[in-house]
This record gives sequence, C-alpha cells and structure tokens, in this order.
Amino acid sequence: MMDFPAYRPRRLRRNEKIRELVRETTLSPKNFIYPIFVGPGKNRAQPVSSMPGVSQLSVDRAVIECEEVQALGIPAIILFGVPEHKDSVGTEAYADTGVVQQAIRAVKEKVPGLLIMTDVCLCEYTDHGHCGVIKSGDVDNDSTLELLVKEALSHARAGADVVAPSDMMDGRVGAIRKSLDQNGFEYVAIMAYAAKYASGFYGPFREAAESTPQFGDRRSYQMDPANADEALREVELDIREGADIVMVKPAMAYLDIVYRVKQKFGYPVAAYNVSGEYSMIKAAGRNGWIDEERIMMEVLFAIRRAGADMILSYFAKDVARLLHGQ
Ligand code: PBG
Repeated sequence: MMDFPAYRPRRLRRNEKIRELVRETTLSPKNFIYPIFVGPGKNRAQPVSSMPGVSQLSVDRAVIECEEVQALGIPAIILFGVPEHKDSVGTEAYADTGVVQQAIRAVKEKVPGLLIMTDVCLCEYTDHGHCGVIKSGDVDNDSTLELLVKEALSHARAGADVVAPSDMMDGRVGAIRKSLDQNGFEYVAIMAYAAKYASGFYGPFREAAESTPQFGDRRSYQMDPANADEALREVELDIREGADIVMVKPAMAYLDIVYRVKQKFGYPVAAYNVSGEYSMIKAAGRNGWIDEERIMMEVLFAIRRAGADMILSYFAKDVARLLHGQ
C-alpha cells in the first residue's frame, strides 16, 4: 500500500456511485428470514406491544403475511407457535393438528416457493415456560430429546423445508437428524441454534410467544454471555451431529462469535437479530433519539460484515421495502 499523499482513501468516497462500486458487503432481501408468530383463532392479529409492527397471527392471517413476504423478495420465514393450551410436556408442539403444523400446510398450499423453517422448541408449549421436561427442578436433557424429535418430525411431515432446534439440549441435532433420515426426510435441512446465549435481549419475544419461564431462568441450558471458546465447541458439535446451517444468537452483542464461527468452520452461518435488538431500535427511533432506518441498516450491515450469510430479523420487511425504494 502507498502512503499519503499518493494514497488518498477519500477518492473512493466522493459520491454514491463510486462508493457503491467499492462497497464490500451487500444487503439484499435475499439475505433474510422473517419470523412469524402463529396463534389460534381466525382472522386474528394481536399486536405485540413491545415489538411495533409485529403481531401474533392466526393461520389465515399468517398466510397473508407470507404472501407479502414473498412479494418483497424475502426467500424464507421461520414459524413460532403459540398454542391455545399449554401443559407440562408441551403436547401441542408435536401434535399434527398444532398451530405450526396447520400453518406449514396452509402456507405450502397458498404460497408455494416460500421456504418454510420452523423453530423446534418446547418453551412456547409448556405451562412452566421452560424448553424441556422438568425433573427435580431443572430441564432434563435426554427425555426432552425424545419430544424435540417428535416435534421436528411432525414439522417435516407437515412440509417444513428446514427445522431449527432452539432448545440448547445436548445431542439434539444428532437425534433429530437420525430420525428425519429414518423417516424419509433426508432432505429436510437442520439450522441449529448452535451458539445460543442466555440473553436479556429475548424479553420482547417472550411477550410475543408467551414463553417466559415461570420459575428460574434458562442459564442451565443456554450459554453464558462471557464465553466465546465454548461457542466454537457448541458449533463444532452441531456440525458433527449433522447441522447444515449454524446460528449465532443474539447477533449485535455477539458479532465476535459470528466472525469466529464463519472463519473457523466456513459453514453457512445464520445470525438472529433478536427481539430486544429490534425493540431498542424501534423505541429509540419513535422517541426521535436516533434515525431508525439508518441504524437498522448500519446494524444489519455489521452482522453481514461479521460473516453472517443470512439474518433472521423482524426488520426483514422494512429492509426489503427500503431496498426496493418503497
Ligand atoms: C425459543 C426461542 C426464543 C427465541 C427464539 N427461539 C426465546 C428464548 O430462548 O427464550 C428468541 C428470539 C427473539 O428474541 O427474537 N427457545
């Protein structure tokens, strides 16, 4: 590299055309996965107060949302279910008549071509709000695996393209892969929430999914925010067990992890720009404290720059509209 004055970095910043030519990172609607909360009822859209622009939708309304997502050029959705009835073992999670299973079938029929991913977890379906079966006051790993396998299979039977276990039980990716293969679903992919931290940024999601733990917290299964090497071990395990895409979650406060995972494994990496990250930007924007659009783009570019191939984000529709100049 030459020194100043031979090298003047400002030459390449003089106008938008030249800035575009040298831009290193791209952001397109194609990079996004849009999360949708499906609940009971008909023609029902219940706004989530802490997440402006996001609602819990009945199946018919979720289909309409999917049509919009598809029209905006966003390739995929991820479905979260909020069942009418919860119990201690999350029965609705693996019922073929569950809200997510119904939504998968309806979206496949009405909006073919949209990739359907599903969140595989029990916390939205259990009355105690934990991500598995409770034994002696804690989530029991191995008996939870059986239920997660049933849930993933039931999503696959309904037509899901990708299942995404978000529970953080040990061994779940391997267990799910094995049973998908045994049941003829060898082409259903697994996107593992591989490095998922015990984060305060999930607060608004828990309002949306009605999944706040009724006692204790998730620190015995989700990762300690202080750890980074452990995230690489978690990712390595999930890859060995058969994960096709590995996810880091949350995104904004964990960009070092996104970067290291991409560098070390060279696998498709997803980053989850979670509910709290969305709500903070929306809230500050609404107060006039920050420029919401600008900060949204800055954060999403940062996540891509760190190495994420794809981003799960409640901003997906906003970004797509902005990129389409609408
Ligand atoms: C389910 C799950 C959670 C999120 C995604 N899947 C909540 C949690 O672990 O408490 C959070 C997503 C968000 O905050 O946007 N286990």
